[in-house]
Amino acid sequence: MIQEKILDFLKREQDYVSGEEVSEHLKITRQALWKHISELRNLGYDIVAVPHLGYSLVSIPDRLFAFEVSHQLNTRFIGKKVYYFESLPSTMETALQLGIKGVPEGTVVVAETQTKGRGRLGRSWFSPKYKGLYFSLILRPEILPNQASILTLLSAVSICETIKEALGLDIQIKWPNDLLAQHKKLGGILTELDAEMDEVRFVNIGIGLNVNNDKKSLFASAISLKELKREAINRIDLLKEILRKIELNYLLFQDKGSVSVIDKWREYNITLGRRVRVYCQKEHIEGEATDIDLDGGLLVRKDSGITEKVMAGDVVFCK
Ligand code: BTN
Repeated sequence: MIQEKILDFLKREQDYVSGEEVSEHLKITRQALWKHISELRNLGYDIVAVPHLGYSLVSIPDRLFAFEVSHQLNTRFIGKKVYYFESLPSTMETALQLGIKGVPEGTVVVAETQTKGRGRLGRSWFSPKYKGLYFSLILRPEILPNQASILTLLSAVSICETIKEALGLDIQIKWPNDLLAQHKKLGGILTELDAEMDEVRFVNIGIGLNVNNDKKSLFASAISLKELKREAINRIDLLKEILRKIELNYLLFQDKGSVSVIDKWREYNITLGRRVRVYCQKEHIEGEATDIDLDGGLLVRKDSGITEKVMAGDVVFCK
């Protein structure tokens, strides 16, 4: 896309870029260049034009445009293709359609807001416009359907690592994939499969993160990165870092198996060692959360001494 190429030029230069140079390089007329610059301005790019000097990029908008996310991402396959939407019912639905169509592994669907954002266990996911990250990532791993939970844990770990490294903040994981800070919900992950009994066609990993939400606009049980950091967070950089980290951990998982994920998950978890009640469908079991096994299931030792494995559910801590 020509506008992307113009932006590449402007981003490379701290100073002014001459209109003549850009138009010659891109083989377009000066008038066409001017038209594209106006369109970029309409998208929110602050580009100044000074006679005899040329154009200079002052700032870019806080929008997760596909070409911004892919720009210098330097991954092997994640985020090579990004679909951007101002608004979607849910990125899960769009990613499902794209997955069925056969889009390549690593394709990302991003929305600035969702009108029917979905959480786990039939809940909804509050997705206010331009405030958070709401995206789905399509992976095509060679695993059995019952191993897919590992990818949820892998994503949770990747987000914790990114937030630690990029923002210096400590985030915890409540089994299986609630991302918490100060005991409040910062984000969540919803994983859906398109699979047969013995084959996964693709996995659709949906990630929702409260980023620049103000305290007053959040539920009392929720928190945002802005609130934790006390400053606005660059959502484009954060999304790119998360995608890079997921790829790194995914490659590690393919190389070394689930131990690489589980070991990291243990570091960030706040569930193990606690007395918990796990609600799964209409039942619940209570006991000590002793460990997770290699397919991501939670092991709960009941008071009877018997240990049960839970693959999905909602954990409540008992005092
Ligand atoms: C949870 O219940 O904790 C999981 C929340 C997952 C929300 C994300 S936002 C992007 C993707 N699209 C959705 O509709 N849900 C997931």
